[in-house]
Amino acid sequence: MTQRHEPARKPGTQEQPGLYGGKSSRRITVRDIAAAKRRGEKWPMLTAYDAMTASVFDQAGIPVMLVGDSMGNCHLGYDSTVPVTMEEMIMLSAAVVRGTQRALVIGDLPFGSYQEGATQALRNATRLLKEAGVGAVKLEGGERSADQIELLVQSGIPVMAHVGLTPQSVHAYGGHPVQGRGEEAVQQLLRDAKAVQDAGAFAVVLELVTAEVSAEVTRGLHIPTVGIGAGAECDAQVLVWTDMAGMTDWAGGRMPRFIKEYAQLRQNLGDAARAFAEDVVGGTYPGPEHSFTS
Ligand code: KIV
Repeated sequence: MTQRHEPARKPGTQEQPGLYGGKSSRRITVRDIAAAKRRGEKWPMLTAYDAMTASVFDQAGIPVMLVGDSMGNCHLGYDSTVPVTMEEMIMLSAAVVRGTQRALVIGDLPFGSYQEGATQALRNATRLLKEAGVGAVKLEGGERSADQIELLVQSGIPVMAHVGLTPQSVHAYGGHPVQGRGEEAVQQLLRDAKAVQDAGAFAVVLELVTAEVSAEVTRGLHIPTVGIGAGAECDAQVLVWTDMAGMTDWAGGRMPRFIKEYAQLRQNLGDAARAFAEDVVGGTYPGPEHSFTS
């Protein structure tokens, strides 16, 4: 039996279920996301890269799941998001769609799949919708990606934009610096956020942006902002699931300050593997209760 989290509701709000944990016989859509912004409701988003983990989050009531190109670091063993291919993205996005019934699943457009221009973006976003079954795509960039966003939206493809720190540009940054520090950077960020909204994006991720600037962006937009390392004022918050669940092996123990670990999965899984190994080596697994007789 699966358990769905049913959050407490304020009296009088039953007819309009919230995005998080609300019962639904259909998938969440971008219209539900827009309605949540109008209601001033905050919502959570997690990444997912496989069907089983996605089904856990779906049953926990997580309304939006991102098949992020963070799969490069978190799932595929690359040292950045840059090597992720369309084929990898399609395969894992399809798995997440199969593992979910309610969540809006968003597929990331990987590095090199949309930078050539709007036509390339449309070709690859179309593949994510047709071959993986996602309900929306995400791409990085503000003003520089406005043409791509506009054509996708005109073609009927919902787009989540991503500004602030855009990890596909890791080689240009030479690291992961916090964005929106200094007057010029603030102005660029505000222009980027406005540009993606004007191009038709239904939401925008703000990554590693100072809390003050992301609050200003959130107040100034009619589409929701989804923060990661961007303070508390965003409409939604996203975390990479392996970070959220304490699965990530932080090199030198240096976990970024914006991450909160809600479980210690790495420790628990390692303990389980060691207990299994010790049972096998010691001859206590399998026991008679795990064995078949003739
Ligand atoms: O790829 C990803 O997981 C992301 C989130 C961190 C927003 O882009």
